[in-house]
Amino acid sequence: MTKLRLSAGAVPFVLVVAMLALVSSAQAQDAATKAKSKMLWTNRGCGACHGVGKRMAGPDLAGLEQRRTREWIDKWLMNTNEMIASDSTAIAMVAEWKGIRMPQQKFTDQDIELLLTYVRGEEDRLAKK
Ligand code: HEC
Repeated sequence: MTKLRLSAGAVPFVLVVAMLALVSSAQAQDAATKAKSKMLWTNRGCGACHGVGKRMAGPDLAGLEQRRTREWIDKWLMNTNEMIASDSTAIAMVAEWKGIRMPQQKFTDQDIELLLTYVRGEEDRLAKK
């Protein structure tokens, strides 16, 4: 077996390579999260009714986190039917959307984070246009 011997001159080089590997794994993770969030958005059918930057069958989700608290968004996605029955903001929305009711689905906290990641990503894209 050959021994790996590092000369003093090689140390900075090894450090640079290690740093590059770290940066690219962070970027890869970021890309993976983005892909996952887009897949969830598509699989759950959000895009059939919502756009980011355009009104469709449901509200435009651009600026969502500016107009609603995170607590409200969590409740809305976790308990849509209950919110439609009791929350004044939700009741007003159903009236504005002429009685169209968003279907209730089951989500984990991680799902909600991914869906918001998708919306934020689309908001960033809009801002760059
Ligand atoms: C069948 C159409 C439909 C689908 C599918 C749908 N929504 Fe909705 N969504 C609506 C409508 C309509 C409203 C307005 C409230 C109402 O009338 O139920 C709404 C409201 C919302 C709101 C509140 C918007 C605001 O301005 O406060 C959020 C957030 C939201 N939807 C996210 C989602 C996400 C995320 C998905 C996918 C998991 C999804 N919706 C799927 C129709 C839909």
